[in-house]
Amino acid sequence: MRRMVRETSLSVDDFIYPLFVRAGEGLKKPIGSLRDCFHFSPDRIADEAAEVADLGIPAVLLFGLPAQKDERGSEAWSESGPVQQAIRAIKERAAELLIVTDVCLCEYTSTGHCGVIKASCGEGILPLHVSPGQDEAKMASGRKGGTPSPQVDNDATCELLAKMALSHVQAGADIVAPSDMMDGRVRAIRQALECNGFHDVAILSYAAKFASAFYGPFRDAAESAPAFGDRKSYQMDPANAREAVREIELDLDEGADIVMVKPALSFLDIIRRARERFDCPVAAYNVSGEYMMLHAAADAGLIDRDAVMMEVLTSIKRAGADIILTYHAKAAAAMLR
Ligand code: PBG
Repeated sequence: MRRMVRETSLSVDDFIYPLFVRAGEGLKKPIGSLRDCFHFSPDRIADEAAEVADLGIPAVLLFGLPAQKDERGSEAWSESGPVQQAIRAIKERAAELLIVTDVCLCEYTSTGHCGVIKASCGEGILPLHVSPGQDEAKMASGRKGGTPSPQVDNDATCELLAKMALSHVQAGADIVAPSDMMDGRVRAIRQALECNGFHDVAILSYAAKFASAFYGPFRDAAESAPAFGDRKSYQMDPANAREAVREIELDLDEGADIVMVKPALSFLDIIRRARERFDCPVAAYNVSGEYMMLHAAADAGLIDRDAVMMEVLTSIKRAGADIILTYHAKAAAAMLR
């Protein structure tokens, strides 16, 4: 009877599995901060993608770790960049798998910020000697006196993001997912795609992305911790729900097809609002800190890992998400079989 009256059902069709592709060859290296996840070089990633497809998971989300970083993140739109190579390799091996790419500069910029930093905020003003992550950790711990959040050049960044998205699509990406939180980037990407004849590519916008301390393990995994300051000048204040609705509305107006709320668990109310307010597909990102907290508690013998995983994923679905981006996707898919 429980089965018959159940209101929410979780399916493998709901999942997108994130993968990290790193420049190089013959590489499959465990990521220390992210249990059961690896850095793959483009020549090794297709095997993993095929395994994901065999589990019935419909899509992967690709993050790239380039060989070189610079102030503008120019490896991000290189035809021979790790993500561009990985897309081609996966398409050849697992053609049925949908490829989503993360569009953001933070893994590609020497500053570790999601956009280019305004010149006025450069030398002399910001303490460039601060080692990656150090300043952020201080701010996350609530102590005062961190570096102020730097000013990104919003419009210049939008242009670069459009170039990046276009190069992913030219390599064969099916969906581009801007995660930078610049204003107007969805429109810039949509225009770039339309002008170049890519009328069928979908945009999954990280529409309501909060400046969260739950991204910690990811920044190690993607080597994308800001070298100074934090991301509060472009990511949202976790205290704001009405603003989240407005951000989602703007992205839909600019041409987003799917909107995302991120992180998921501390923001289930935002997922619910998005579901009730908009009739488009809603996605939620069960982020790295949420994932590793579950593993840490299970390692400590405090919770039943699999049971809590299924409860967490079901709660995200029940809140209103149609799509869940999660590092649990493979384990959950195996259990759902
Ligand atoms: C890039 C990006 C981040 C995540 C996804 N895309 C990190 C950030 O904004 O700092 C986080 C994913 C996770 O924590 O699992 N901007």
